[in-house]
Amino acid sequence: MKIAVPKEAGQGERRVALVPESAARLVKAGMAVAVEDGAGSEAGFDNDAYESAGATIVGTRQGLLSDADLVLSVRQLPDVDIPVLKNGAAQIGMLRPLTSPEHVNLLARAGVSALAMELVPRITRAQKMDSLSSQATAAGYKAVLLAAAGHGKFFPMLMTAAGTVPPARVLVLGAGVAGLQAIATARRLGAVVQGFDIRPAVKEQVESLGAQWVGMELAEAEGTGGYAAEVSEETQRQEHEHLAKLIADADVVITTAQIPGRPAPVLITTDMVDGMKAGSVIVDLAAESGGNCELTRPDEEVRHGRARILGPTDLAGGTQIHASQMYSRNVEALVQHITKDGALNIDREDEIVRECLITDAGQIVHPRVSATVQQER
Ligand code: NAI
Repeated sequence: MKIAVPKEAGQGERRVALVPESAARLVKAGMAVAVEDGAGSEAGFDNDAYESAGATIVGTRQGLLSDADLVLSVRQLPDVDIPVLKNGAAQIGMLRPLTSPEHVNLLARAGVSALAMELVPRITRAQKMDSLSSQATAAGYKAVLLAAAGHGKFFPMLMTAAGTVPPARVLVLGAGVAGLQAIATARRLGAVVQGFDIRPAVKEQVESLGAQWVGMELAEAEGTGGYAAEVSEETQRQEHEHLAKLIADADVVITTAQIPGRPAPVLITTDMVDGMKAGSVIVDLAAESGGNCELTRPDEEVRHGRARILGPTDLAGGTQIHASQMYSRNVEALVQHITKDGALNIDREDEIVRECLITDAGQIVHPRVSATVQQER
C-alpha cells in the first residue's frame, strides 16, 4: 500500500500531516510512504529526515497523488488535486465536512473514501486519534502567548526597586481543551486567572490548574461526548449579566466557547467591550465559527474603544513543529486502525470509522454531512 504526504497548499499553512517518526513506524508496518519534496520543511522536517525514516521523496505532485492508495493531509487538498486521486483511494485530513459541501461532493464523485479527522468520536478507544484536542492544545497555548506579547503589561507580579507591578488578570471563557491549556499557560506566566464555562463538569479541572472558577454550572449545558449543548436565550441573557463585570475587570480575555456544528455563542457584546480597561486584549479562538465576541473578524485585529480584539484562525499552525508531531501521531493511529498487514482494511461497521468516514464508493455516507450537503443545494 502506498501512502502519500503532499505539501500543504493552504496559504500560510506550515504544518505537515506525517512527521518522519510516524513515517518510520508505518514503513515498519509494511507500508510505502512517499513525501512530496519539501512537504515537511516549514515544520522543521527536511527531506533527509524522511529518507532516513525509510520514506521516498517525490518531486511531482501529480505523480505522487495519482499513485497513492492513501493520502494524508492537514487541511483539505485543493480541488484540482481530487480528480487526480485513484478511484478507491482513501484520504485522511481535517476536511471541514460540515462546512464544505462542494469539496465533499468532489471527493464522493472521485470515488475517494474520505475520513474527516474532526469527526473522530471522543471515545476512549479513539483518544490517540483526537486531532481536535491536540490542535486545540496548541491553539490554547499560543493564544496566551499572543495576548501576552500584545497587551503591553507583564503577566506576573513583579516586586522591583522601581516599584511593585500587580499581575495581569486573565479571563478564559470556555474551559474545554483549548481553554484549559490557555488557563495552564497563563498561570505558568504568573497571571491571576479566572475560568468560566457553563458545564458543571469542568469546575474541578479549572480549579486544579490554579485558576478561580467563575462559571455558572448549568445542568442543561452538559451535552454528549464531553461537548456542551446550546442554551436558551434566557440563559444566555443571564450569562451576559454575569460576564459583564468579569470582562470589565480583565486585562486579557481568551474565548474558546463552542458547540459542535453550531455557530459559536456570543459571550462578549459590544457594550462589554466598551467597558473594558485601556490596553485590554481579547483573543477569540472561535473566530472561524462566528466568534464569541460580537466584534471579532477572522484573522483581523479590530480596535474598539480601549480594547483590541484578535481573531486568529490558525493558532495551532503557529506552533507548527509540535502541532505537526501531535497531529501526525493522531493520523498514524487512524492509519493503523484502518489497515491490516500493510494494506487498507476499512471496517465500515466499526464505530470510529462509521463516525468519521464521509464519502465511500462514490457516495456521501455520513448522515450529518449528507444533510448539510442537501441543505446547501
Ligand atoms: P471544546 O468543545 O473542548 O470546548 C469548548 C468549551 O466551550 C466547552 O467546555 C463548552 O462547555 C464551552 N461552552 C460552550 N458554550 C458555552 C457558553 N455559552 N458559555 C460558556 N462556555 C461554553 O472545544 P476545544 O477543543 O477546546 O476548542 C475550543 C475552540 O477553539 C473551538 O471553537 C475550536 O474551533 C477553536 N480552535 C481554534 C483554533 C484557532 O486557531 N483559532 C485552533 C483549534 C481550535
